[in-house]
Amino acid sequence: MNSDIKSVLIAEDVLQAKIAELGAKITEEYRGKDLLLVCVLKGAVIFVSDLMRHIDLPLDIDFMAISSYGSNTQSSGVVRILKDLNASIEGRHVLIVEDIIDSGLTLSYLAENLKSRGPKSVEICTILDKPDRRTAQLDIKYTGFQVPDEFVVGYGLDYAEKYRNLPYIAILKEEIYSN
Ligand code: IMP
Ligand code: MG
Repeated sequence: MNSDIKSVLIAEDVLQAKIAELGAKITEEYRGKDLLLVCVLKGAVIFVSDLMRHIDLPLDIDFMAISSYGSNTQSSGVVRILKDLNASIEGRHVLIVEDIIDSGLTLSYLAENLKSRGPKSVEICTILDKPDRRTAQLDIKYTGFQVPDEFVVGYGLDYAEKYRNLPYIAILKEEIYSN
């Protein structure tokens, strides 16, 4: 195990089983629809690449980068589009794929922004949900796991851009944050 890790919150096999389950559900619910996955960079890349292999439908994927965080652990409330989608989403069924929803500010901004572009639907799929700190009202269609109000890393999630490559979700040792 990585020596900066205090404890593993969600093990790799548990994550993978849940992703297979989410993929099967999405497959049933989007059958016959023109599905576009919108991956929110960078955190959701690992999740979307696992998830899409469990969706047994023709689909398309696009990427967006937005920021509401600096390199610290508090949401700033300021949302900026750093990279927009490559193509139009008009008439398409959009499923936003995210790593974690905390305050919800990032996703509520993004969902509203995408809804204004004329898609048939916009829904949200997140691997982690941290409901304790929600300030923005959000309907989340697919959730992997609810997590407590602790800063987590791994499986795409970073602390100061590190730890995204861990195959599990973990909590860091306190001394890492104070350095
Ligand atoms: P929100 O706007 O507060 O919902 O923030 C969502 C974004 O904050 C996520 O996409 C993550 O990039 C980041 N974030 C929130 N909580 C955590 C965490 O526990 N670990 C790593 N990143 C987090
Ligand atoms: Mg993110």
